[in-house]
Amino acid sequence: MSASTCSLCALVKSSIGRKFIVAITGLALVLFLAGHLSGNLLIFVGPDAFNEYAEFLHTFLHGAGVWIARIGLLVCLLLHVVFTISLTRENRTARTKYAHEATVQATKSSRLMIWSGLTILAFVVYHLLHFTIRIDDNLAQLGETSPWHMVIAGFQHPVVVAFYILAMTLLCSHLSHGVSSIFQTLGLRTKKTAKPIAFFSKAYSLVIYVGFISIPIAILIFGYGCGPCH
Ligand code: HEM
Repeated sequence: MSASTCSLCALVKSSIGRKFIVAITGLALVLFLAGHLSGNLLIFVGPDAFNEYAEFLHTFLHGAGVWIARIGLLVCLLLHVVFTISLTRENRTARTKYAHEATVQATKSSRLMIWSGLTILAFVVYHLLHFTIRIDDNLAQLGETSPWHMVIAGFQHPVVVAFYILAMTLLCSHLSHGVSSIFQTLGLRTKKTAKPIAFFSKAYSLVIYVGFISIPIAILIFGYGCGPCH
């Protein structure tokens, strides 16, 4: 086995190494959310701006760009979930072995993280079925249509909107803890930086939350002339 393969094994075997992988993949997913939100907010600029953006994504690098991003995201998501589950299991075993108050406190918050994280995972699966595979009857009936119409049609039902809001609320809670954990794992949280990091994590998750929920709520309230949806 080569030296680089061995150092990869060592990284995965040590809990610090796995924490590092969770932090780096978490950072990639956090940055993806900012990019995804910025693009999605073009829906408020109008159909042309949103459709041009979608067209750019699907034709970038002759169509290869979207696949590179999809594979990168999938790898990040899998590593993030698999190593989080393994670290949570390890923490649980440690908690049974050494029933120390500090350990119990630490696992309480990580237990919340695992549940919000798994719910977000379920949301992502639903979201892909909704907009990428288009299982929604409303969307299936549309046939070949513009991405703008697809999103407008996708948020015509209050139950769908309510589900998105619920998922975004859990995402916000997950991010407000997760973003500051990234700084901690990367060794950037010190006595001096702790407060600004806590503020930044909360502000970032709030912006992501308000930004994402504004889209289904606005569509449900204003309709945006969903002509082809009915
Ligand atoms: C109201 C909020 C959101 C809207 C309107 C929205 C909209 C969309 C649209 C239109 C697509 C493109 C589907 C396609 O053409 O293939 C998409 C893809 C995607 N979205 Fe969202 N999204 C939202 C929130 C989120 C959130 C919170 C996450 C992550 C937690 C997320 C993750 C993804 C992923 C992973 C893809 C797949 C990219 C691809 O394979 O092309 N989205 N979204």
